Amino acid sequence: MGWSEDLLKEKLAGKLIGHHLYCFGEIGSTNDEAYRLGLDGAPEGTAVLADSQSKGKGRMQRVWHSPAGANIYTSIILRPPLKTEAAPQISLMAGVAVAELLEQYSPGKVALKWPNDVLLNEKKVCGILAQMKTRGEEVDFVVVGIGLNVNIHRHEFPAEINNFATSLSAETGRKMAREELIISLYENLAKWYTKLINYGFEPIKAKWLSLAPMIGQTIELVNFKETVTGKALGIDETGALMLLTAKGGMISVSAGDATIVKKG
Ligand code: BTN
Repeated sequence: MGWSEDLLKEKLAGKLIGHHLYCFGEIGSTNDEAYRLGLDGAPEGTAVLADSQSKGKGRMQRVWHSPAGANIYTSIILRPPLKTEAAPQISLMAGVAVAELLEQYSPGKVALKWPNDVLLNEKKVCGILAQMKTRGEEVDFVVVGIGLNVNIHRHEFPAEINNFATSLSAETGRKMAREELIISLYENLAKWYTKLINYGFEPIKAKWLSLAPMIGQTIELVNFKETVTGKALGIDETGALMLLTAKGGMISVSAGDATIVKKG
């Protein structure tokens, strides 16, 4: 599997995230497993980790390429005291936590692309898929699924994503110990999650904006049905992207893929 489950469990004992750890060689999707555990009442911070996924899920019904022996596929159960409309704050918080962690390995090369793709040298190195279970107007739990490309070689990506995807080792030129990264990832996630719970969304929003080159740029936003072009002004309290459209109207968009079309 490439990591020692015993060592991970020892290092994560007593930690907010990873104290309860479920490790798999191959699994369908860590998000599906974490969601099932969440329904069974698993406590906050429970983490599911797999070496490979046969049905890795991406945003917008895409597939997440999840080969064995190279990357990190993990899903964490959080039970934030939030209203459902604030739930996207959780996935933006996770993006910030991953980006800050990667900054240690590649200073100045990390960026966030709304809503929460993490880019390294302008290519996607990490994707985040959050899935929520509601209880009335409150969040019951959120599964935060993180796919981080660590040691996969450039030529191993499927052709359709080869131009846009990268890995930490491809950009830094050195192979990374996944165990070390998993522990730091959970620690940093716990740090930013605690900030969110104690101080609200403001610190997350500020950090997110500082890492998002698309803010202030003209962007094209494609969601399932339509394409909207406008100037990205920022994000609001629900994590939606605020756009000033060509016609001068302000809109907030909560789902889609955003690309910079014009700088300045
Ligand atoms: C995206 O499309 O950018 C989100 C990708 C999320 C992938 C991760 S891998 C671990 C977890 N399990 C899944 O099935 N998906 C997420």
